Amino acid sequence: MALARVLVTGGAGFIGSHTCKALAAADYIPITVDNLSTGSVGDVRWGPFEKADVRNTDRVRQIIEHYKLSAVLHFAGCAYVGESVEKPELYYDNNVGGILSLLKACRQVGVKQFVFSSSCATYGIPETLPIEESAPQCPINPYGRTKYIGEQMLRDFSAAYGLRYAVLRYFNACGADPDGVLSEKHDPETHLIPLALLAASGRAPELCIFGVDYPTPDGTCIRDYIHVSDLADGHVLALEKLRSLEENIEVNLGSGTGHSILDVLAAIRDVTGQEVPARFEARREGDPPELYADSRRARSILGFEAKRSDLHT
Ligand code: UFG
Repeated sequence: MALARVLVTGGAGFIGSHTCKALAAADYIPITVDNLSTGSVGDVRWGPFEKADVRNTDRVRQIIEHYKLSAVLHFAGCAYVGESVEKPELYYDNNVGGILSLLKACRQVGVKQFVFSSSCATYGIPETLPIEESAPQCPINPYGRTKYIGEQMLRDFSAAYGLRYAVLRYFNACGADPDGVLSEKHDPETHLIPLALLAASGRAPELCIFGVDYPTPDGTCIRDYIHVSDLADGHVLALEKLRSLEENIEVNLGSGTGHSILDVLAAIRDVTGQEVPARFEARREGDPPELYADSRRARSILGFEAKRSDLHT
């Protein structure tokens, strides 16, 4: 049987490239569309590459037709909470404009299966923890709002045009390909774990800890850190489910465990033997105090397990 070809927008980026690797291992051919604004073409290794912006509907439609693609996995977009507070126009343009353009292209050519990178940032400040998928979605920053709008578009397109979708609400992606073929390359880097490792190894003077007055046991923010290869596996499971089920899917992809910033620094000290030099700073705008997933639905619907997401491994 011919291998299924799927469109991966943002396939040159961190989570997209790891997912292409997992797709290829599951006998899919990923066709990457990426504008290379943040991605790296060297990380497109498991299928053809087309340099294009997802907001160019005609170009995307031509690519879907050319490769006879049956499904879309949509990663392309901006993903920094802090930046979204400073540059909301960029986030609405890229994230909301991007998914709308892609959905138009899918409708024009009849692609019916759509996997969307959403985020726990759509929940805002949760009333209860761990966060269940049925929790109210009240995002508190522009990034979370753009992802929430994307989810709403999928629901509306599904009701009107018969699109079937999987919304995957990621928690904090971290780690890198265990085979060492891919890595996390963000420039500038803003994420906690790489910045803490840079400080621990002496390649940065120190880590700034944003906020020590949160209502958490040690006063620092709590997040659910999920290994990027676990996330990648979650996409393959979601795609397979979409291909065999007549239902839409909305699930969290998290490890189910929350760790404070100080927990992360302690784990780095345990694993590397190096202290992370750190100083305390004011809170970063847009940061909820505590986010971690209830991962039961992903387990029951997709059979998803976070296998690599222990901080110490
Ligand atoms: N942090 C610091 N110092 C730093 C960097 C981060 O204290 O130098 C703190 C942040 O304030 C936050 C925690 O570490 O409390 C994690 O911050 P990250 O920047 O690593 O990740 P975010 O939680 O802000 O955002 C990430 C992704 C989003 C996603 C979100 C889900 O970038 O796309 O996880 O929680 F929505």
